[in-house]
Amino acid sequence: MGERILIFDTTLRDGEQSPGYSMNTKEKLEMAKQLARLGVDVMEAGFPIASEDDFEAVKAIAQQIKGGPIIAGLCRAKDIDIDRAWEALKHAERPRIHTFIATSEIHIKYKLKSTQEEVLEATVAAVKRAKRCTEDVEFSAEDAHRTDQDFLCRVVEAAIKAGATTINIPDTVGYGVPWEFGERVRNLMGRVPNIDRVVVSAHCHDDLGLAVANSLEAIRAGARQVECTINGIGERAGNASLEEIVMGLRTRKDLLGYETGIKTEEIYRTSKLLQSITGVSVQPNKAIVGANAFAHEAGIHQHGVLQKPLTYEIMTPESVGVPKSRLVLGKHSGRHAFKKRLEELGIGLADDDLNKAFVRFKALCDRKKEVFDEDLLALVEAEVMAPAETYTLEHLQFTSGTNIVPTATVRLKMHDEVYQESGWGDGPVDAAYKAIDLITKIHGTLMEYNLRAVTGGKDAMGEVTVAVEMNGQRVVGRGSSTDVIEASVRAYLHAINKVVATGGRKTVAELERERRAV
Ligand code: KIV
Ligand code: ZN
Repeated sequence: MGERILIFDTTLRDGEQSPGYSMNTKEKLEMAKQLARLGVDVMEAGFPIASEDDFEAVKAIAQQIKGGPIIAGLCRAKDIDIDRAWEALKHAERPRIHTFIATSEIHIKYKLKSTQEEVLEATVAAVKRAKRCTEDVEFSAEDAHRTDQDFLCRVVEAAIKAGATTINIPDTVGYGVPWEFGERVRNLMGRVPNIDRVVVSAHCHDDLGLAVANSLEAIRAGARQVECTINGIGERAGNASLEEIVMGLRTRKDLLGYETGIKTEEIYRTSKLLQSITGVSVQPNKAIVGANAFAHEAGIHQHGVLQKPLTYEIMTPESVGVPKSRLVLGKHSGRHAFKKRLEELGIGLADDDLNKAFVRFKALCDRKKEVFDEDLLALVEAEVMAPAETYTLEHLQFTSGTNIVPTATVRLKMHDEVYQESGWGDGPVDAAYKAIDLITKIHGTLMEYNLRAVTGGKDAMGEVTVAVEMNGQRVVGRGSSTDVIEASVRAYLHAINKVVATGGRKTVAELERERRAV
């Protein structure tokens, strides 16, 4: 058995705070459940002081994710932040307060307009205040990699003395190169009194594409926790990618000798879920989870893999949970079989959601001969994780072709009222969206549109993801159907229903402004 490296996932905090990755509370909870299934040791659920929505999401995760990971909440080294974080985290079985302050000269001078002595005082005060709430306190020296090494040692020593149990060393701007970042951690391990009594952690950003390499080097130097995100999402170029670190440690255990508690077979599904919630896909050549990560195109490679997979495959697709296309259910399958298959795929649905999904599944069986696991996942992600539906699609009819004006008629139901409108546009999707705008009185501007076939075959389901700007909010919607126009309409409606569900609550733009102010 190798020594255990703790995986601290910050997809829902550092990842979510970057533009284009905003999630609502329901989506964060869904993601949190999957992260728990994945087996992360610590899940940073958000930055409670940053906004009302962040607070609510951290609280919901703290209340609902039980029997698994530590739930962490971020806060600056300020009383008001720490108290707010604790208010959200106190419901967790295993809460952690994660407090931070910048320690580099450039940050202290220009951002904090403070001094090293004041930063030291704030560090001690923050850790002590957090310690009154919970035993588990993490301290981060923001921009540690560009911090004067002697001062960094003093701050870390003071934080440990005040009671911090984890010390995090961030390369906040992704400036370090592996041996240099490793050396920084090694230096702290050798110089700071009592550092062996705490867990040392690395938090690397990917501005130079070195976040994973820097994290691995930090482990070699003594770090026993790494902070990372699914698909490497995060500020600017992102954070170190969880799947790359974990599979690096696993695949090269012969050399490195460490292990993690991650159930690697859950990696692919976690990555897909995040892509589907945020509407942002990873590039095809993304390590571990990209569409081409296990595809062997060249004949010579294919031949080699057929003879012996190890010739060109250093890990198997099964080890990260890439699903094999598998015929699962058909027209005659009952609700029980449907529920059981979903459970095998790790999806447990409440009765209402199950009924909703089953109705859609039956409709799909009428249109598609073979239903695969991927179809089920697309259907559940797009339909069941949608917000409490406000508008439902009752009827869609469109005409389109060469030299005619595309038109569409859409009938929607809201509660017990039925509304119908027609529109025309540049194409059938545009026409249908105009008809929907007339009904809902919410005008959406389409920012992004993505269509993908969920499986192969002419009758494959199409999954559409749209990013729409509505009422100053950027909202992602998803829909799937064997008919791509219907999938497009469902995706647009999904986005509209999210806007309606947020009611009078703050817009994403407002939340991002608030965050920037923090
Ligand atoms: O990059 C960083 O420094 C951070 C800290 C708040 C941990 O995200
Ligand atoms: Zn960060």
